[in-house]
Amino acid sequence: MSISIVILAAGKGSRMKSTTPKVLHSISGKPILFHAIDAGQKISDDITVVLYHQANRVQEAIEEEYQNINFHFQDAEQFPGTGGAMKGIETKYEKTLILNGDMPLITEDSLKALTDGDSDINMSVITLDNPSGYGRVVIEDEKVQEIVEQKDCNESQIEIKTVNGGIYCVETELLSSYIPILSNENAQAEYYLTDIIKMAVDDGKKVTPIYVKEEEFKGVNSKLDLANAEVIMQNRIKKSLMEQGVTMRFPDTIYIDCRAYFEGENILENGVTILGKSKLINAHIKTNSVVEDSIIEDSDVGPMGRVRPLSHLKGTHIGNFVEVKKSTLTGVKAGHLSYIGDATIEEGSNIGAGVITCNYDGKNKYKTTIGKNVFVGSDSQLVAPITIEDDVMIGAGTTLTKDVKKGSLALSRTPLKIVPKFFYKFFGK
Ligand code: UD1
Ligand code: MG
Repeated sequence: MSISIVILAAGKGSRMKSTTPKVLHSISGKPILFHAIDAGQKISDDITVVLYHQANRVQEAIEEEYQNINFHFQDAEQFPGTGGAMKGIETKYEKTLILNGDMPLITEDSLKALTDGDSDINMSVITLDNPSGYGRVVIEDEKVQEIVEQKDCNESQIEIKTVNGGIYCVETELLSSYIPILSNENAQAEYYLTDIIKMAVDDGKKVTPIYVKEEEFKGVNSKLDLANAEVIMQNRIKKSLMEQGVTMRFPDTIYIDCRAYFEGENILENGVTILGKSKLINAHIKTNSVVEDSIIEDSDVGPMGRVRPLSHLKGTHIGNFVEVKKSTLTGVKAGHLSYIGDATIEEGSNIGAGVITCNYDGKNKYKTTIGKNVFVGSDSQLVAPITIEDDVMIGAGTTLTKDVKKGSLALSRTPLKIVPKFFYKFFGK
Protein backbone atom coordinates (compact mmCIF):
# COMPACT_ATOMS: atom_id res chain seq x y z
CA MET A 1 0.00 0.00 0.00
CA SER A 2 2.70 2.47 -0.91
CA ILE A 3 0.47 5.02 -2.56
CA SER A 4 -0.97 8.24 -1.22
CA ILE A 5 -4.40 9.54 -2.11
CA VAL A 6 -5.73 13.09 -2.29
CA ILE A 7 -9.48 13.56 -2.60
CA LEU A 8 -10.62 16.98 -3.80
CA ALA A 9 -13.77 18.05 -1.99
CA ALA A 10 -13.41 21.81 -1.53
CA GLY A 11 -15.71 22.87 -4.35
CA LYS A 12 -19.03 24.52 -3.69
CA GLY A 13 -21.31 22.20 -5.62
CA SER A 14 -23.70 25.04 -6.40
CA ARG A 15 -25.55 23.02 -9.04
CA MET A 16 -26.95 20.79 -6.26
CA LYS A 17 -29.04 23.75 -5.05
CA SER A 18 -28.77 22.62 -1.46
CA THR A 19 -27.54 23.90 1.90
CA THR A 20 -25.95 20.49 2.46
CA PRO A 21 -22.43 20.27 1.03
CA LYS A 22 -22.48 18.34 -2.24
CA VAL A 23 -20.22 15.53 -1.06
CA LEU A 24 -22.44 14.84 1.98
CA HIS A 25 -25.51 13.95 -0.07
CA SER A 26 -26.20 10.25 0.32
CA ILE A 27 -26.22 7.47 -2.20
CA SER A 28 -27.56 4.14 -0.92
CA GLY A 29 -27.25 5.35 2.67
CA LYS A 30 -23.72 6.73 2.52
CA PRO A 31 -22.43 10.22 1.63
CA ILE A 32 -20.99 10.57 -1.87
CA LEU A 33 -17.58 11.35 -0.41
CA PHE A 34 -17.55 8.23 1.80
CA HIS A 35 -17.95 5.99 -1.23
CA ALA A 36 -14.76 7.55 -2.64
CA ILE A 37 -12.96 7.28 0.73
CA ASP A 38 -13.96 3.61 1.05
CA ALA A 39 -12.63 2.78 -2.42
CA GLY A 40 -9.44 4.72 -1.54
CA GLN A 41 -8.93 2.95 1.77
CA LYS A 42 -8.76 -0.39 0.00
CA ILE A 43 -5.50 0.66 -1.65
CA SER A 44 -4.01 3.32 0.62
CA ASP A 45 -3.38 4.19 4.26
CA ASP A 46 -2.47 7.81 3.49
CA ILE A 47 -5.59 9.69 2.45
CA THR A 48 -5.88 13.47 2.48
CA VAL A 49 -9.22 15.20 1.90
CA VAL A 50 -9.10 18.79 0.65
CA LEU A 51 -11.81 21.06 2.09
CA TYR A 52 -12.94 24.66 1.84
CA HIS A 53 -16.70 25.20 1.43
CA GLN A 54 -18.44 24.21 4.71
CA ALA A 55 -15.13 22.65 5.69
CA ASN A 56 -16.07 22.13 9.35
CA ARG A 57 -19.28 20.33 8.54
CA VAL A 58 -17.60 17.97 6.10
CA GLN A 59 -14.65 17.38 8.43
CA GLU A 60 -16.98 16.53 11.35
CA ALA A 61 -18.95 14.08 9.23
CA ILE A 62 -15.75 12.36 8.13
CA GLU A 63 -14.33 12.20 11.65
CA GLU A 64 -17.50 10.59 12.95
CA GLU A 65 -17.02 7.70 10.56
CA TYR A 66 -13.25 7.42 9.97
CA GLN A 67 -9.96 7.66 11.77
CA ASN A 68 -6.64 8.35 10.02
CA ILE A 69 -7.94 10.74 7.38
CA ASN A 70 -5.75 13.82 6.89
CA PHE A 71 -7.32 17.16 6.13
CA HIS A 72 -5.98 20.00 4.03
CA PHE A 73 -7.70 23.35 3.86
CA GLN A 74 -7.50 25.06 0.51
CA ASP A 75 -6.83 28.79 0.34
CA ALA A 76 -9.57 29.08 -2.26
CA GLU A 77 -9.67 32.89 -2.09
CA GLN A 78 -6.10 33.23 -3.34
CA PHE A 79 -5.80 29.95 -5.16
CA PRO A 80 -9.11 28.79 -6.61
CA GLY A 81 -9.37 25.70 -8.78
CA THR A 82 -8.24 22.09 -8.65
CA GLY A 83 -4.57 23.15 -8.86
CA GLY A 84 -5.11 25.60 -6.01
CA ALA A 85 -6.59 22.73 -4.02
CA MET A 86 -3.28 20.84 -4.27
CA LYS A 87 -1.14 23.74 -3.00
CA GLY A 88 0.79 22.93 0.15
CA ILE A 89 -0.24 19.27 0.36
CA GLU A 90 2.43 16.84 1.45
CA THR A 91 1.83 13.16 0.88
CA LYS A 92 3.73 10.24 2.33
CA TYR A 93 4.50 7.94 -0.58
CA GLU A 94 6.29 8.16 -3.94
CA LYS A 95 3.08 8.15 -5.94
CA THR A 96 -0.03 10.19 -5.31
CA LEU A 97 -3.45 9.32 -6.69
CA ILE A 98 -5.68 12.38 -6.99
CA LEU A 99 -9.43 12.00 -7.35
CA ASN A 100 -12.52 14.15 -7.23
CA GLY A 101 -14.70 13.74 -4.15
CA ASP A 102 -17.87 13.73 -6.23
CA MET A 103 -17.36 10.31 -7.80
CA PRO A 104 -19.28 7.82 -5.68
CA LEU A 105 -19.27 5.06 -8.29
CA ILE A 106 -15.52 4.64 -8.49
CA THR A 107 -14.32 1.13 -7.65
CA GLU A 108 -11.18 -0.28 -6.11
CA ASP A 109 -10.38 -2.07 -9.39
CA SER A 110 -10.40 1.14 -11.41
CA LEU A 111 -8.24 2.92 -8.84
CA LYS A 112 -5.77 0.02 -8.98
CA ALA A 113 -5.69 0.14 -12.79
CA LEU A 114 -4.68 3.80 -12.55
CA THR A 115 -1.80 3.07 -10.19
CA ASP A 116 -0.29 0.29 -12.34
CA GLY A 117 2.71 0.62 -14.64
CA ASP A 118 5.86 2.75 -14.70
CA SER A 119 4.53 6.04 -16.08
CA ASP A 120 5.28 9.35 -14.44
CA ILE A 121 1.59 10.16 -14.78
CA ASN A 122 -1.39 7.89 -15.44
CA MET A 123 -4.54 9.81 -16.21
CA SER A 124 -8.12 8.64 -16.62
CA VAL A 125 -9.75 9.32 -19.97
CA ILE A 126 -13.25 8.60 -21.20
CA THR A 127 -14.62 8.80 -24.71
CA LEU A 128 -18.03 10.45 -24.70
CA ASP A 129 -20.58 11.17 -27.40
CA ASN A 130 -21.35 14.36 -25.55
CA PRO A 131 -18.10 15.68 -24.02
CA SER A 132 -19.71 18.92 -22.85
CA GLY A 133 -18.42 20.23 -19.53
CA TYR A 134 -15.30 18.11 -19.40
CA GLY A 135 -11.68 19.00 -20.05
CA ARG A 136 -10.64 17.76 -23.52
CA VAL A 137 -7.60 15.53 -23.82
CA VAL A 138 -5.40 16.37 -26.79
CA ILE A 139 -3.78 13.17 -28.04
CA GLU A 140 -1.30 13.06 -30.94
CA ASP A 141 0.30 9.82 -32.21
CA GLU A 142 -1.37 8.00 -29.31
CA LYS A 143 0.45 10.28 -26.88
CA VAL A 144 -1.27 12.70 -24.54
CA GLN A 145 -0.20 16.28 -25.20
CA GLU A 146 -2.33 18.33 -22.84
CA ILE A 147 -5.74 18.82 -21.23
CA VAL A 148 -7.70 21.86 -22.33
CA GLU A 149 -10.67 22.93 -20.21
CA GLN A 150 -13.87 23.46 -22.16
CA LYS A 151 -13.86 27.22 -21.60
CA ASP A 152 -10.31 27.45 -23.00
CA CYS A 153 -10.88 25.27 -26.08
CA ASN A 154 -10.38 26.51 -29.62
CA GLU A 155 -12.77 25.45 -32.39
CA SER A 156 -11.07 22.16 -33.15
CA GLN A 157 -10.36 21.25 -29.53
CA ILE A 158 -14.01 21.65 -28.56
CA GLU A 159 -14.85 18.79 -30.97
CA ILE A 160 -12.58 16.31 -29.16
CA LYS A 161 -14.57 13.49 -27.59
CA THR A 162 -11.81 12.09 -25.42
CA VAL A 163 -12.14 13.80 -22.06
CA ASN A 164 -10.40 13.98 -18.71
CA GLY A 165 -12.04 11.62 -16.21
CA GLY A 166 -10.57 13.61 -13.33
CA ILE A 167 -8.35 10.96 -11.70
CA TYR A 168 -4.58 11.03 -11.94
CA CYS A 169 -1.75 9.00 -10.49
CA VAL A 170 1.36 11.19 -10.36
CA GLU A 171 4.95 10.82 -9.14
CA THR A 172 4.82 12.81 -5.88
CA GLU A 173 8.09 14.55 -6.80
CA LEU A 174 6.51 15.94 -9.97
CA LEU A 175 3.64 17.41 -7.96
CA SER A 176 6.12 19.18 -5.68
CA SER A 177 7.79 20.82 -8.63
CA TYR A 178 4.72 21.60 -10.77
CA ILE A 179 2.02 22.69 -8.31
CA PRO A 180 3.89 25.79 -7.05
CA ILE A 181 4.43 27.07 -10.59
CA LEU A 182 0.89 26.63 -11.95
CA SER A 183 -0.53 29.81 -13.41
CA ASN A 184 -4.09 31.08 -13.50
CA GLU A 185 -3.90 32.62 -16.94
CA ASN A 186 -6.96 30.97 -18.39
CA ALA A 187 -10.61 31.63 -19.09
CA GLN A 188 -11.67 31.01 -15.49
CA ALA A 189 -8.64 32.65 -13.78
CA GLU A 190 -8.27 29.43 -11.77
CA TYR A 191 -5.30 27.24 -10.99
CA TYR A 192 -5.89 24.10 -13.04
CA LEU A 193 -4.42 20.83 -11.83
CA THR A 194 -4.84 19.65 -15.40
CA ASP A 195 -1.98 21.95 -16.52
CA ILE A 196 0.55 19.54 -14.99
CA ILE A 197 -0.04 17.24 -17.96
CA LYS A 198 1.49 19.64 -20.47
CA MET A 199 4.32 20.47 -18.07
CA ALA A 200 5.19 16.79 -17.76
CA VAL A 201 4.97 16.23 -21.53
CA ASP A 202 7.26 19.22 -22.14
CA ASP A 203 9.76 17.75 -19.67
CA GLY A 204 9.77 14.46 -21.58
CA LYS A 205 7.92 12.55 -18.86
CA LYS A 206 5.81 9.51 -19.60
CA VAL A 207 2.10 10.33 -19.48
CA THR A 208 -0.25 7.42 -20.10
CA PRO A 209 -3.98 7.70 -20.78
CA ILE A 210 -5.99 4.98 -19.06
CA TYR A 211 -9.35 4.45 -20.74
CA VAL A 212 -11.96 4.01 -18.02
CA LYS A 213 -15.65 3.15 -17.69
CA GLU A 214 -17.85 6.18 -18.06
CA GLU A 215 -20.24 4.92 -15.39
CA GLU A 216 -17.63 5.02 -12.64
CA PHE A 217 -16.17 8.38 -13.53
CA LYS A 218 -19.36 10.38 -13.82
CA GLY A 219 -19.21 13.19 -11.31
CA VAL A 220 -22.33 14.02 -9.31
CA ASN A 221 -23.06 17.70 -9.87
CA SER A 222 -26.85 17.93 -9.67
CA LYS A 223 -29.89 16.25 -8.17
CA LEU A 224 -30.41 14.51 -11.52
CA ASP A 225 -26.86 13.11 -11.39
CA LEU A 226 -27.55 12.06 -7.80
CA ALA A 227 -30.66 10.11 -8.80
CA ASN A 228 -28.87 8.47 -11.74
CA ALA A 229 -25.93 7.46 -9.55
CA GLU A 230 -28.36 6.02 -7.02
CA VAL A 231 -29.89 3.74 -9.66
CA ILE A 232 -26.47 2.47 -10.71
CA MET A 233 -25.40 1.90 -7.10
CA GLN A 234 -28.65 0.09 -6.24
CA ASN A 235 -28.28 -2.19 -9.25
CA ARG A 236 -24.75 -3.06 -8.15
CA ILE A 237 -25.83 -3.79 -4.57
CA LYS A 238 -28.77 -5.96 -5.64
CA LYS A 239 -26.79 -7.84 -8.27
CA SER A 240 -24.12 -8.75 -5.76
CA LEU A 241 -26.70 -9.81 -3.16
CA MET A 242 -28.58 -11.99 -5.65
CA GLU A 243 -25.26 -13.62 -6.57
CA GLN A 244 -24.84 -14.24 -2.86
CA GLY A 245 -28.22 -16.03 -2.83
CA VAL A 246 -30.77 -13.41 -1.76
CA THR A 247 -34.12 -13.94 -3.53
CA MET A 248 -35.69 -10.74 -4.85
CA ARG A 249 -39.10 -10.38 -6.43
CA PHE A 250 -39.09 -7.47 -8.90
CA PRO A 251 -35.67 -6.14 -7.82
CA ASP A 252 -36.32 -2.78 -9.50
CA THR A 253 -38.85 -2.00 -6.77
CA ILE A 254 -36.50 -2.90 -3.90
CA TYR A 255 -34.16 -0.46 -2.13
CA ILE A 256 -31.20 -1.68 -0.07
CA ASP A 257 -28.69 0.39 1.90
CA CYS A 258 -25.10 -0.38 0.96
CA ARG A 259 -24.36 -1.04 4.66
CA ALA A 260 -26.99 -3.78 5.05
CA TYR A 261 -25.74 -7.29 5.71
CA PHE A 262 -27.29 -10.59 4.61
CA GLU A 263 -26.60 -14.10 5.81
CA GLY A 264 -28.27 -17.45 5.11
CA GLU A 265 -31.36 -17.53 2.87
CA ASN A 266 -33.31 -14.34 2.59
CA ILE A 267 -36.37 -13.42 0.53
CA LEU A 268 -37.28 -9.84 -0.31
CA GLU A 269 -40.62 -9.28 -2.00
CA ASN A 270 -41.46 -6.32 -4.20
CA GLY A 271 -41.42 -2.83 -2.72
CA VAL A 272 -39.20 -3.74 0.24
CA THR A 273 -36.87 -1.12 1.72
CA ILE A 274 -33.87 -2.13 3.84
CA LEU A 275 -32.17 0.85 5.49
CA GLY A 276 -29.09 1.49 7.60
CA LYS A 277 -26.85 -1.21 8.99
CA SER A 278 -29.64 -3.79 9.06
CA LYS A 279 -28.73 -7.44 9.39
CA LEU A 280 -30.95 -10.09 7.80
CA ILE A 281 -30.44 -13.74 8.61
CA ASN A 282 -32.95 -16.15 7.03
CA ALA A 283 -35.51 -13.39 6.84
CA HIS A 284 -38.59 -13.14 4.66
CA ILE A 285 -39.56 -9.51 4.15
CA LYS A 286 -42.89 -9.24 2.41
CA THR A 287 -44.34 -6.66 0.02
CA ASN A 288 -43.90 -2.98 0.88
CA SER A 289 -42.26 -3.46 4.27
CA VAL A 290 -39.52 -1.24 5.69
CA VAL A 291 -36.68 -2.42 7.91
CA GLU A 292 -34.24 0.12 9.36
CA ASP A 293 -31.08 -0.50 11.39
CA SER A 294 -32.46 -3.73 12.83
CA ILE A 295 -31.67 -7.42 13.03
CA ILE A 296 -34.20 -9.81 11.50
CA GLU A 297 -33.33 -13.39 12.26
CA ASP A 298 -35.39 -16.45 11.21
CA SER A 299 -38.41 -14.13 11.05
CA ASP A 300 -40.92 -12.72 8.61
CA VAL A 301 -42.21 -9.19 8.31
CA GLY A 302 -45.21 -7.79 6.47
CA PRO A 303 -46.71 -7.30 3.98
CA MET A 304 -46.63 -3.63 4.96
CA GLY A 305 -44.73 -4.10 8.20
CA ARG A 306 -42.33 -1.56 9.61
CA VAL A 307 -39.33 -2.37 11.77
CA ARG A 308 -37.67 0.78 13.09
CA PRO A 309 -34.10 1.17 14.43
CA LEU A 310 -32.56 -0.98 17.14
CA SER A 311 -35.06 -3.79 16.92
CA HIS A 312 -34.16 -7.44 17.00
CA LEU A 313 -36.62 -10.07 15.80
CA LYS A 314 -35.80 -13.75 16.36
CA GLY A 315 -38.14 -16.52 15.20
CA THR A 316 -40.89 -13.93 15.06
CA HIS A 317 -43.83 -13.15 12.80
CA ILE A 318 -44.78 -9.52 12.21
CA GLY A 319 -47.87 -9.02 10.09
CA ASN A 320 -49.47 -6.15 8.21
CA PHE A 321 -49.46 -2.65 9.69
CA VAL A 322 -47.37 -3.66 12.67
CA GLU A 323 -44.72 -1.15 13.72
CA VAL A 324 -41.86 -2.25 15.94
CA LYS A 325 -39.30 0.16 17.41
CA LYS A 326 -36.25 -0.50 19.65
CA SER A 327 -37.71 -3.82 20.77
CA THR A 328 -36.50 -7.38 21.08
CA LEU A 329 -39.03 -10.03 20.10
CA THR A 330 -38.15 -13.70 20.44
CA GLY A 331 -40.58 -16.31 19.16
CA VAL A 332 -43.45 -13.81 19.05
CA LYS A 333 -46.49 -13.45 16.81
CA ALA A 334 -47.89 -9.98 16.19
CA GLY A 335 -50.12 -10.36 13.18
CA HIS A 336 -52.02 -7.12 12.71
CA LEU A 337 -52.16 -3.39 13.35
CA SER A 338 -49.90 -2.91 16.38
CA TYR A 339 -47.31 -0.52 17.78
CA ILE A 340 -44.59 -2.20 19.79
CA GLY A 341 -42.00 0.29 21.07
CA ASP A 342 -39.25 -0.03 23.71
CA ALA A 343 -40.41 -3.57 24.51
CA THR A 344 -38.96 -6.98 25.21
CA ILE A 345 -41.27 -9.90 24.45
CA GLU A 346 -40.36 -13.52 24.98
CA GLU A 347 -41.00 -16.93 23.45
CA GLY A 348 -44.54 -18.05 22.71
CA SER A 349 -46.29 -14.74 23.30
CA ASN A 350 -49.07 -13.55 21.03
CA ILE A 351 -49.85 -9.89 20.49
CA GLY A 352 -53.44 -9.42 19.33
CA ALA A 353 -54.68 -7.06 16.65
CA GLY A 354 -54.50 -3.39 17.57
CA VAL A 355 -52.34 -3.79 20.71
CA ILE A 356 -50.37 -0.69 21.56
CA THR A 357 -47.45 -0.15 23.91
CA CYS A 358 -48.00 3.33 25.34
CA ASN A 359 -44.29 4.01 25.74
CA TYR A 360 -44.30 7.82 25.83
CA ASP A 361 -45.91 10.16 28.32
CA GLY A 362 -45.02 13.31 26.41
CA LYS A 363 -41.69 13.68 28.24
CA ASN A 364 -40.02 10.29 28.60
CA LYS A 365 -40.00 6.86 27.03
CA TYR A 366 -40.66 3.77 29.15
CA LYS A 367 -40.12 0.04 28.75
CA THR A 368 -42.65 -2.75 28.36
CA THR A 369 -41.49 -6.20 29.44
CA ILE A 370 -43.55 -9.22 28.45
CA GLY A 371 -42.59 -12.76 29.47
CA LYS A 372 -43.22 -16.14 27.84
CA ASN A 373 -46.59 -17.47 26.62
CA VAL A 374 -48.42 -14.23 27.24
CA PHE A 375 -51.65 -13.73 25.33
CA VAL A 376 -52.40 -10.06 24.86
CA GLY A 377 -56.01 -9.65 23.70
CA SER A 378 -56.88 -7.41 20.76
CA ASP A 379 -57.07 -3.65 21.17
CA SER A 380 -55.28 -3.56 24.52
CA GLN A 381 -53.11 -0.66 25.64
CA LEU A 382 -50.05 -1.46 27.71
CA VAL A 383 -49.17 1.71 29.61
CA ALA A 384 -45.41 1.63 30.23
CA PRO A 385 -43.38 1.21 32.35
CA ILE A 386 -44.97 -2.17 32.79
CA THR A 387 -44.00 -5.80 33.32
CA ILE A 388 -46.13 -8.79 32.40
CA GLU A 389 -44.76 -12.06 33.73
CA ASP A 390 -44.98 -15.49 32.03
CA ASP A 391 -48.25 -17.31 31.29
CA VAL A 392 -50.52 -14.28 31.53
CA MET A 393 -53.75 -13.51 29.66
CA ILE A 394 -54.80 -9.94 29.00
CA GLY A 395 -58.46 -9.64 28.00
CA ALA A 396 -59.37 -7.86 24.78
CA GLY A 397 -59.76 -4.12 25.14
CA THR A 398 -57.83 -3.89 28.42
CA THR A 399 -56.01 -0.72 29.42
CA LEU A 400 -53.21 -2.17 31.49
CA THR A 401 -51.62 0.17 34.01
CA LYS A 402 -50.22 -2.29 36.60
CA ASP A 403 -47.71 -5.12 36.45
CA VAL A 404 -49.18 -8.61 36.14
CA LYS A 405 -47.90 -11.65 38.05
CA LYS A 406 -47.23 -15.07 36.52
CA GLY A 407 -50.28 -17.11 35.56
CA SER A 408 -52.86 -14.29 36.03
CA LEU A 409 -55.67 -12.88 33.93
CA ALA A 410 -55.83 -9.10 33.65
CA LEU A 411 -58.99 -7.50 32.36
CA SER A 412 -60.32 -3.97 32.40
CA ARG A 413 -63.74 -3.51 30.93
CA THR A 414 -66.60 -1.05 31.25
CA PRO A 415 -69.78 -3.09 31.86
CA LEU A 416 -71.72 -3.79 28.70
CA LYS A 417 -75.18 -2.31 28.46
CA ILE A 418 -77.83 -3.54 26.03
CA VAL A 419 -80.97 -1.46 25.50
CA PRO A 420 -83.63 -3.47 23.63
CA LYS A 421 -85.43 -1.78 20.70
CA PHE A 422 -83.38 1.41 21.13
CA PHE A 423 -82.74 1.66 17.39
CA TYR A 424 -86.42 1.95 16.58
CA LYS A 425 -87.04 4.46 19.36
CA PHE A 426 -84.27 6.64 18.00
CA PHE A 427 -84.84 6.41 14.27
CA GLY A 428 -88.45 5.38 14.20
CA LYS A 429 -89.62 2.37 12.17
C1 UD1 B 1 -12.50 18.90 -13.60
C2 UD1 B 1 -11.31 18.95 -14.58
C3 UD1 B 1 -11.80 18.53 -15.95
C4 UD1 B 1 -12.40 17.14 -15.86
C5 UD1 B 1 -13.50 17.08 -14.81
C6 UD1 B 1 -13.91 15.65 -14.56
C7 UD1 B 1 -9.87 20.75 -13.80
C8 UD1 B 1 -9.37 22.13 -14.05
N1 UD1 B 1 -10.77 20.30 -14.65
O1 UD1 B 1 -13.45 19.86 -14.06
O2 UD1 B 1 -10.71 18.53 -16.87
O3 UD1 B 1 -12.91 16.77 -17.13
O4 UD1 B 1 -13.04 17.58 -13.54
O5 UD1 B 1 -14.98 15.58 -13.69
O6 UD1 B 1 -9.38 20.10 -12.91
N2 UD1 B 1 -12.37 21.31 -6.20
C9 UD1 B 1 -11.62 21.73 -5.14
N3 UD1 B 1 -11.24 23.05 -5.12
C10 UD1 B 1 -11.55 23.93 -6.10
C11 UD1 B 1 -12.31 23.47 -7.20
C12 UD1 B 1 -12.70 22.15 -7.22
O7 UD1 B 1 -11.32 20.97 -4.24
O8 UD1 B 1 -11.15 25.08 -6.00
C13 UD1 B 1 -12.82 19.93 -6.22
C14 UD1 B 1 -14.33 19.79 -6.28
O9 UD1 B 1 -14.88 19.70 -4.96
C15 UD1 B 1 -14.53 18.52 -7.07
C16 UD1 B 1 -13.27 18.43 -7.92
O10 UD1 B 1 -12.33 19.31 -7.38
O11 UD1 B 1 -14.59 17.38 -6.24
C17 UD1 B 1 -13.54 18.82 -9.38
O12 UD1 B 1 -14.05 20.13 -9.40
P1 UD1 B 1 -15.12 20.57 -10.47
O13 UD1 B 1 -15.42 21.99 -10.25
O14 UD1 B 1 -16.24 19.60 -10.51
O15 UD1 B 1 -14.23 20.45 -11.79
P2 UD1 B 1 -14.77 20.33 -13.25
O16 UD1 B 1 -15.09 21.67 -13.73
O17 UD1 B 1 -15.80 19.28 -13.29
MG1 MG C 1 -17.08 18.17 -11.75
